[in-house]
Amino acid sequence: MNIKKVGVVGCGLMGHGIVQVAAQGGCEVIALETEQAFLDKGLGRIQKSVAKLAEKQVEKGKLDEAQAKAFVEGTLGRIKGSTNKADLADCDLVIEAIVENLDVKKALFAELGKLCMADTIFASNTSSFPIGEMADASGRPARFVGLHFFNPVQLMRLVEVVRTDKTDENVFAAARAFGESCGKTPVSCKDTPGFVVNRLLVPYMTQALLMLERGDATKEDIDTAMQLGCGYPMGPLTLTDYVGLDTTLFILQGWKERYPNEPAFEVPKILERLVSEGKLGRKTGEGFYKWDGDKKS
Ligand SMILES: NC(=O)c1ccc[n+]([C@@H]2O[C@H](COP(=O)([O-])OP(=O)(O)OC[C@H]3O[C@@H](n4cnc5c(N)ncnc54)[C@H](O)[C@@H]3O)[C@@H](O)[C@H]2O)c1
Repeated sequence: MNIKKVGVVGCGLMGHGIVQVAAQGGCEVIALETEQAFLDKGLGRIQKSVAKLAEKQVEKGKLDEAQAKAFVEGTLGRIKGSTNKADLADCDLVIEAIVENLDVKKALFAELGKLCMADTIFASNTSSFPIGEMADASGRPARFVGLHFFNPVQLMRLVEVVRTDKTDENVFAAARAFGESCGKTPVSCKDTPGFVVNRLLVPYMTQALLMLERGDATKEDIDTAMQLGCGYPMGPLTLTDYVGLDTTLFILQGWKERYPNEPAFEVPKILERLVSEGKLGRKTGEGFYKWDGDKKS
C-alpha cells in the first residue's frame, strides 16, 4: 500500500503543518477547509514556513540557492487547496484535523465513508477521543487509524500511530510508513485514552497543579525542580500555560466522564477556577503566569 495522494481536512494550527510535512515528503496533498478565508490563512502559513525552512537550509550550507528554490516550488506545487469534499474522493489517505468535537468528527467520517474510494485509509489527529468510535462511524473500521502529530508539526519529530482492534495490519503499516515519509519517527499505540504521550503528560501536569493547590511548593519551585532535576525544557505549570488551561481542562473532563474509575484523571479545582476566570494561559496573557506574547512577564 503506497500512499501518494493525501487529503487533510482542516488547515488550522495542526492541519497546515500536516499538509506541509506530507508535501515535503513527496505526497500530492489536498488541503480542505470550510471557507476560502480559512484556507487562504492556512496556505499562507505554509508558504511562510516552507520559505523559512529553505532559508535555514541555505544558511546551514545544506542547500544552495537553486536547490532551495526547487524545494520551495516542489513542496508548494504538490499542495492544492479546496473547499469541496468531493476533491478527497481519490485520496489514498485522508487525515482529519478539525475541531476537537467527537460528534462533528463522526459526522465528517460518515460522509467521507460514502464519498471516498473504497481503498482510502482514514486517520484522525484527535488528542483525546477514541479512534474506534470514529472508525465505526466511517463504515470502514479496518481502514482507520489514529495519526497523532505534535505541535508545531513542522518541528516535532514524533507521530503516534494508533490502531484499534479492527485496524488491518497492512493499513497500519502503510500509516507508519506515511509518518516516516513526513520525516517523523512513528510509535505504535493501542486505542487508549491519551495514547502514549498525553496519557503520561496530562496526569503529570495534573499532579503539579494539585501540588500547587495543596501549597506543597510554589509554582516557580515546582517548575524549577522539574527543569533542573529532570532536564525538562520547561516545568509543568509553564507547560500547562503553553498548552492552554482550557484545552487541558477539556481533555481531563472528557476522560473523567468516560473513565470515572481512573484515579489519574482527576480534575484540579485550581484549573476549573482559572478557566472560569478566563485565565487560559499564554494565549490570553495570563494563566499560572502572566505572559507578554511568548515571554513570561
Ligand atoms: N493544538 C494542538 O496542540 C494539537 C496537538 C495534537 C492534536 N491536536 C488535534 O488536532 C485537531 C485540530 O486541532 P487544531 O489545534 O489544529 O485546531 P484549529 O482550530 O487550529 O483548526 C481546526 C481547523 O479545522 C477547520 N474545520 C472545522 N470543521 C471542518 C470541516 N468540517 N471541514 C473542514 N475544515 C474544518 C476549521 O476551520 C479550522 O481551521 C484536534 O482534533 C486537536 O485535538 C491538536
